[in-house]
Amino acid sequence: MGFVFAAAGSAVGLGNIWKFPYITGENGGGVFVLIYLFCILVIGMPIMISEFIIGRGSSKSPVGAFKTLSGQDTKWALVGWLGVITGFIILSYYSVVAGWAMHYSYLSITDQFFGKEPAQIENIFDTLYASPGPNLFWHITFMLLTVGIVIGGIKRGIEKWSKVLMPVLLVILGVLLIYSVFSDGFGRCLDFVFAPHIEKVSPSSVLEALGHAFFTLSLGMGAMITYGSYLDKKADLPKSALIVSGLDTLIALMACLVIFSIIFSHNMDPAGGPGLVFKTLPIVFSSIKGGQILAILFFVLLIVAALTSAISLLEVVTSYFIDERGWPRIKATLVTGLPITLLGIPCAISGWWGTFLFEKNFFDLLDHVASNWFLPLGGLFISLYVGWVLDHKVKNQEFIANSWLAFLFKWWLQLVRYFCPVAVLMIFLYKLGVF
Ligand code: TRP
Repeated sequence: MGFVFAAAGSAVGLGNIWKFPYITGENGGGVFVLIYLFCILVIGMPIMISEFIIGRGSSKSPVGAFKTLSGQDTKWALVGWLGVITGFIILSYYSVVAGWAMHYSYLSITDQFFGKEPAQIENIFDTLYASPGPNLFWHITFMLLTVGIVIGGIKRGIEKWSKVLMPVLLVILGVLLIYSVFSDGFGRCLDFVFAPHIEKVSPSSVLEALGHAFFTLSLGMGAMITYGSYLDKKADLPKSALIVSGLDTLIALMACLVIFSIIFSHNMDPAGGPGLVFKTLPIVFSSIKGGQILAILFFVLLIVAALTSAISLLEVVTSYFIDERGWPRIKATLVTGLPITLLGIPCAISGWWGTFLFEKNFFDLLDHVASNWFLPLGGLFISLYVGWVLDHKVKNQEFIANSWLAFLFKWWLQLVRYFCPVAVLMIFLYKLGVF
């Protein structure tokens, strides 16, 4: 169970509560959600099992894992390298968003939502987004915290905490959900989130749904390889993947329902962009009894959820230097943490800086490249590797040992051999306009 919680701690994060609702809004709801769920089920879960297999089969972090399984100078180690670079990029902007959660915790503690009108609350985010000062301050604070935890090796402590806090997060989302069910906007919210309007599908939303399936499950860059490497031989890999993906999807959908109910109750714009969660939830916190306590709890938990994910991102980058270069943990963490923090600076000032390239600001550009291209690309190679290259004995043993889902082995193998690589490739080509 400890492992499942650690993996869930990595998976459940800002991706579920911040990113999923906002990209669902931007991509028109319904069909996007459906494509996303489909990607989780037939691409995400099989690849998560594949990452667990590579990790536990080798007991190594990504780069070393491929070397252990396929020989010292195997080209597959490049996939591990791609993961290290991707983790580096994702953490730099992830930390900025976690910084927003810190700022909102501070606003809740000092009771600054109470009695405010929805328009004023929206304004709080717009002001924050355009101010370099607080963004930089919170980004650096969050990076210091993450680096401190990874250096201190108190990961275990964090995992124990998240075991307690994850259920609390679920309960709070449950409370907010009950509140939303009774709000005026719930009907329109259900329609928006679940009713498929086919005319809204575009190559970009298909790619975005695929990329997000990877992002939310922490796949495609070796985080789950690293976590799998700590796992003992008795654990049931397919079952763990099922629980982690199920919990992750549940939390994402709950967050979506809560946020869109608020949006439709107050006639706000569903395509409001990256500030969506921060513009909507405080409206509820400001208007209900005990709202301040709920607000504090929610935003502090969001920080914790972000921390457990950020740790897994940094861990992939540092463990390369620890395992492959023999660096002491403290040196590896500092030497990687510093440039990540620096790369986060242009992200932190993006709202003020404005457009950077391809009509996107720096922050959006990094997110787009890392989540929508690098993660699926990593996933493509991981599925090809496990499907075609990895010794059949290893696959068999890792998948089937102690698994009550052993009977799914054949299906899984077909998915990772044919369906996953072909689907990812087709989505890439579709987006590139080849067909
Ligand atoms: N899955 C996390 C979230 O939803 C983010 C994350 C953590 C991640 N580790 C990762 C994303 C590795 C991609 C790869 O917030």
